[in-house]
Amino acid sequence: NNLPTTASHFRHVDAMVPQPSAAAAKLSQLKAVVLGEAPASEDDEVVVPSHEFSRQALVPSTQKYLEMYKSSIEDPAKFWSSIASSEFYWKQRWGDQVYSENLDARKGNIKIEWFKSGITNVCYNCLDRNIDAGLGDKIAIYWESNEPGFDATLTYSELLHRVCQLANYLKSIGVGKGDAVVVYLPMLMELPITMLACARIGAVHSVVFAGFSAESLAQRIVDCKPKVVITCNAVKRGPKTIHLKDIVDAALIESANNRISVDVCLTYENQSAQNRESTKWEKGRDVWWEDVVPKFPTSCDVEWVDAEDPLFLLYTSGSTGKPKGVLHTTGGYMVYAATTFKYAFDYKDSDVYWCTADCGWITGHSYVTYGPMLNGATVVVFEGAPNYPDPGRCWDIVDKYKVTIFYTAPTLYVTRYSRRSLRVLGSVGEPINPTSCRWFFNVVGGSSCPISDTWWQTETGGFMITPLPGAWPQKPGSATFPFFGVQPVIVDEKGVELDGECNGYLCVKSSWPGAFRTLYGDHERYETTYFKPFPGYYFTGDGCRRDKDGYHWLTGRVDDVINVSGHRIGTAEVESALVFHPHCAEAAVVGVEHEVKGQSIYAFVTPVEGISYSDELRKSLILTVRKQIGAFAAPDKIHWAPGLPKTRSGKIMRRILRKIASRQLDELGDTSTLADPGVVDQLIELADD
Ligand code: WTA
Repeated sequence: NNLPTTASHFRHVDAMVPQPSAAAAKLSQLKAVVLGEAPASEDDEVVVPSHEFSRQALVPSTQKYLEMYKSSIEDPAKFWSSIASSEFYWKQRWGDQVYSENLDARKGNIKIEWFKSGITNVCYNCLDRNIDAGLGDKIAIYWESNEPGFDATLTYSELLHRVCQLANYLKSIGVGKGDAVVVYLPMLMELPITMLACARIGAVHSVVFAGFSAESLAQRIVDCKPKVVITCNAVKRGPKTIHLKDIVDAALIESANNRISVDVCLTYENQSAQNRESTKWEKGRDVWWEDVVPKFPTSCDVEWVDAEDPLFLLYTSGSTGKPKGVLHTTGGYMVYAATTFKYAFDYKDSDVYWCTADCGWITGHSYVTYGPMLNGATVVVFEGAPNYPDPGRCWDIVDKYKVTIFYTAPTLYVTRYSRRSLRVLGSVGEPINPTSCRWFFNVVGGSSCPISDTWWQTETGGFMITPLPGAWPQKPGSATFPFFGVQPVIVDEKGVELDGECNGYLCVKSSWPGAFRTLYGDHERYETTYFKPFPGYYFTGDGCRRDKDGYHWLTGRVDDVINVSGHRIGTAEVESALVFHPHCAEAAVVGVEHEVKGQSIYAFVTPVEGISYSDELRKSLILTVRKQIGAFAAPDKIHWAPGLPKTRSGKIMRRILRKIASRQLDELGDTSTLADPGVVDQLIELADD
C-alpha cells in the first residue's frame, strides 16, 4: 500500500498533538477506497495521495506535517516569526513579543496582536519584493472577460505600474493612511489593482460584492464613511448587462440621506458593457478612471505601516442585525494568507492558479489577490459566469491558461469535463459532496490530483482546517486536520471540550496570525458574538464532528446564517427585507439543502390582514429582497403561512420550520410546547401552494 507513512512514524510524536496522533494510530487500519464505489460509512473512505505527488510536495508525509504542526503549537512565536522574517520584507522588525492575546472575556477585553511594532507593507511584499527577486516579467494576472476571446495580461512590473498610478491618484485627492475606500467593482483587473493601491498608501479598502443592491451598498458606505467610492459603469455577467454605476448613484443618494456624503466616485469605463455617453454622470463628483489615473507616475512611495494597522474591512452576515465589518490588519494577515496558500495548494513557481471566487468575498481577498501574489504566483482573474456561454466555460479556461491549481466552490464540480493540466484542486464554502469528490479524483485527476476541502471563514482570514495535499490520506467530504498554528476544539453546549470521537460546536483555542481583530466600530459585538458563547474560545458558528480517526467533518452553521452558492447570508437580513414589503406582516427564513447551491433560501411569509396569497405578491416579495440585499439573496421558495409556529413566549421554532421546508414531516418532533400546535398542520397543507 502507498500510505505516505506508517503507524510507527507516529511514536515519535507525543500527545501534544491530540487529534492527528490519535488519527495516526488508527491510520494503518484504514482501508483505502479509490475505486469509485462508496464504502459502508463515509468515515472509512480514504483517498491516498500518489507517490509522485507526495514525493514532490512541500509537506511530503504525515510525519512531516505532524512535526511542523507540533512545533507550531508548542511555540507559535518561534514558528510564525521564522516564517515572517524569512519570507517577507519588514522595514523594521516587530518588538519583543511576536504576539499577545486575550481570548477570554472574563479576563478583560478580547485582544489579538501579531508582529506589533513590525513595520511593513503588503503591497510592497506582493509586488516590489517579488520584482526585486526577478519576477518582473512573470505574468501576474491572466484576465479573461465574460466574452470568450477577450482577454488581457499583466506582468508583475506592469501590475506595479498600474497600482502606483492609482495610488498616486488616490493620494492626489487626499486619501491617506487609515482612510476607508469603498470598492464596488466586478472581476476586472482593476479590482486587485485597487486593493493593492489602497494597501500601498495605507488606505483601508472595503470591497462590496458587486451583486449587492444599492441599499446594502449604502449601509456599508454609511458605516465606514469613505472619501471615495471606486466602481465601473457596467458589467456583463453572462448575457446580462448590469449597470453598476446606477446602483452606486442610488446608494450615494441613500447615504446622503443619512448625512454621509462621498467626495469622489471614480468610475472605470468598461467599454465592453456600456459606453461613456450612456452613463449617468454627476459633475463634480464623478470622475472617469481613464481620464485621470493613467496621467500619474508609474512609481509611488510605499506608506510603511505597523503590522497592526488595518488592511481591509469586509462586511459579512451574522445571525442578527446589520452586516458586520470584519477588520483584518496588516502583518498577521499577510503572513497567514501567504503561508496557507503555499501549503494548502502545494504551490510551486511554475503553477498557474485560478480561484473562481469574486474579490467581493473573503476568498477573493485571501486567495485571488493577497495569498497568491505574496507568493509571486500567476493568477487567472475571470470576469464572467462559469456557465456562459456554455457549461464547459470553466474547463475551457483551465485549458487555455494551462491552469494547474483550481480553487472553487464544490458545486462547480458537477460539470463533468476533464482537463489534464490540473495538479491540485481546492474547494470552499460547504462540505464537498463525496460523490463528486470521488468522481473528480478518479476521472478528472486521474487519481493523482489531490483535492483540498478547505474550511475557513471571513473572520479567520485564511484556511483553518484543510488537507495538505501529499501529507494526509483524505476522506472525501472531510476538511481533515488543522493548519499549522490552529487548535480547533469541539465543545458541548456547556462549553466543555470533547475528546476523541465527538460532535459539537467548533471553537478555536488561541489566536492565529490571520484572525480578525475586531468588528469595525463595535468591539463589544465582536466579543459578544464570537468570544462570550464559549468563554476562552473563539466560536466559529459551525457544528463539527470528529471521527474515530480524528478527521473533522463540518456539519453546517448552528446559527441562523446560510451559505448559498458560496454567498454567506443571514436569515435575519432576508427576513427584514421581506417585512419591508408593505403586505408582509411576518417572515421566517430558513436554509434547505440544495443539490447545486449547497443551500437555498426558503421563506415562510404571513401577509398582512386582508391581503390574500397570489403569484403577484410572491413575485413582488422576491423583488423586494433583490432590491434590499441583492439578487443572490432572493428566496427560492415562498411558503404562505397563516401563522408561524411559536412558543408561548413568542419565539419562532425554526427547528420545525426547517423540517417542514425540507419535507421531513415525520421528524417534526415535539410540537406540544407551541402556543398553537394547529399552525403546523396549516403549514403542511399549504406546502405546495
Ligand atoms: C462555511 C468562506 C463546510 C461554514 C471562506 C463557514 C464550509 C462559512 C467550508 C464561512 C467547508 C466554509 N466545508 N463548510 N470547506 N468552508 N464553510 O465567511 O459554515 O463566506 O462558517 O467564508 O462557510 O463563510 P464565509
